[in-house]
Amino acid sequence: MGDITLEIDGKSIAAKEGTTVLEAARSADIFIPTLCHNEMLEPYGGCRLCTVEVESRGRKKLVASCLYPVEPDLIVRTRTEMVDKVRKLVLEFLLAHAPDSVRMNELAAEYGADKDRFGKESSFCILCGLCVRYCAEVKKRNVIGFVDQGAKREINFIPELAAQYCWDCKECFPLCPTSYLQAAYHLTHAIAFPSLSLDEVAQA
Ligand code: SF4
Ligand code: FES
Repeated sequence: MGDITLEIDGKSIAAKEGTTVLEAARSADIFIPTLCHNEMLEPYGGCRLCTVEVESRGRKKLVASCLYPVEPDLIVRTRTEMVDKVRKLVLEFLLAHAPDSVRMNELAAEYGADKDRFGKESSFCILCGLCVRYCAEVKKRNVIGFVDQGAKREINFIPELAAQYCWDCKECFPLCPTSYLQAAYHLTHAIAFPSLSLDEVAQA
């Protein structure tokens, strides 16, 4: 695969064909915020926080940079009024679900997002899928999965598999942009092993 030259924020950048705008930006130390992206995992495109403006043959559009492939002579703008507006809206919507997320509150300050704009629906999980995908793609264990659809969609540990694999793994915990994953794990543990003391559950 050959090199492609594109422009990001006025900077000429060479990128490998088949890579994404996000990867090209990161290779040039240009920051684009992400929530559902992780370099170890397949692109997912779930949160839309990585939205940027791209211009090709005179036509502009907003795209998710973690999914959008580089192309020759593409012009990318990572901070326009519209891009910032989209990121602000995404953060306001997600903060209704996880108002205490440290990472999202830091980003909210950057984009002027109002965490109280939307009524609280504190599921504490923003369905970024990082835990589910990490367990499936990297660990090949599928201990965590999504259940239900729409507003009821949530992540769930399979207790039998969690008991077998999670106790000495927990590699997905630091990936979670909220604190929900740890809470869900402890809950699974408490339900699956009701004979454990609260101290043992807390240490699990
Ligand atoms: S528990 Fe955390 S990592 Fe898993 S989907 Fe929810 S927010 Fe993402
Ligand atoms: S980081 Fe690109 S859509 Fe979530």
